[in-house]
Amino acid sequence: MEKLNTPEVVLSVNHLVKDFPVGQSTSKNSYMRAVNDVSFDLCKGEALAIVGESGSGKSTGARVLTRIYDKTDGEIIFKGKPLDEFIKDNGTLEYARQVQMIFQDPFGSLNPVHSIYHHIARPLLIHKRTDKSNVEKMVLELLELVGLFPAVETSQKFPHELSGGQRQRVAIARALAVDPEVILADEPISMLDVSVRLGILNLMADLKDKHGISFMYITHDIATARYFAEKTAVMYVGHMVEWGNSDKVTQTPQHPYTKLLLSAVPEAGKSGRRELGAKKGEIPMWRPDTKGCPFAARCPNAIDICNDSFPAVNQIAEDHFIRCHNI
Ligand SMILES: Nc1ncnc2c1ncn2[C@@H]1O[C@H](COP(=O)(O)OP(=O)(O)O)[C@@H](O)[C@H]1O
Ligand SMILES: [Mg+2]
Repeated sequence: MEKLNTPEVVLSVNHLVKDFPVGQSTSKNSYMRAVNDVSFDLCKGEALAIVGESGSGKSTGARVLTRIYDKTDGEIIFKGKPLDEFIKDNGTLEYARQVQMIFQDPFGSLNPVHSIYHHIARPLLIHKRTDKSNVEKMVLELLELVGLFPAVETSQKFPHELSGGQRQRVAIARALAVDPEVILADEPISMLDVSVRLGILNLMADLKDKHGISFMYITHDIATARYFAEKTAVMYVGHMVEWGNSDKVTQTPQHPYTKLLLSAVPEAGKSGRRELGAKKGEIPMWRPDTKGCPFAARCPNAIDICNDSFPAVNQIAEDHFIRCHNI
């Protein structure tokens, strides 16, 4: 019997590893492991939030997926094919079209000497989505789709004439111009005024729900992950420590690090923050042969085994997983 409502997996990542060399020598210990054994499925029209503090390997993971960096190990499957095979069959330009990236700093990602029109028209022409006779119409439609009105006036402006939120909308329109399957959004609202952040999240939610685009939403803010994404993966020092359905991860967190992140989120009606007491242990520099749980030094519940071996994956509920020795 055909399964109903089985989500279509667009991008699948299995045991992804990314090492960076440290210093000059090439011995094993001169590498740091920025991403270690990361696995997830990104489904069509769904958002996966990758949450973690600075340095947890979020951007590195996204850069490996967009092929800015080569992976060290693991497997990336795009639309059912290993990435290398997909690229052999379809070309790098086609993969770049289907997997787009949006960055934290919309000003840095736009060219100050070009008009907004140019920014949107260029990918339309490069990826042959339209010919010259129709390009203006498509540029204006895209600007309207991302909420930039009046579109004609906006198209004539230059990046410095727009607000931060408007610039991020242009970056989103530029990504949409090539009709992508996946958007990797790396901290897309962190640099924006608080007052416009929700508008950008709601725009991305619309693109997900109405246009079936899959989002990997990278953030250090677990509250926005819960708001925007169906699934959440919490990362610590390159490792996924807790993941699954966003409601489960944020409402019934099981990993001490997830609990710590959530305790730092200000709650409506309560004054100040109620931060859980984590130990002031150091954040480790992870190397290929480092042992133990990356959170052990800060974990209030750490036991001996936490310093010796990295915990295996434990499923604690449907669509809720954790890596912790102490469950
Ligand atoms: N190009 C690089 N060369 C060497 N180390 C890097 C490079 N990019 C990132 N790193 C290191 O990898 C770790 C993860 O960084 P990053 O992925 O940027 O984290 P996040 O996006 O979660 O803040 C950090 O320790 C960072 O210093
Ligand atoms: Mg980053």
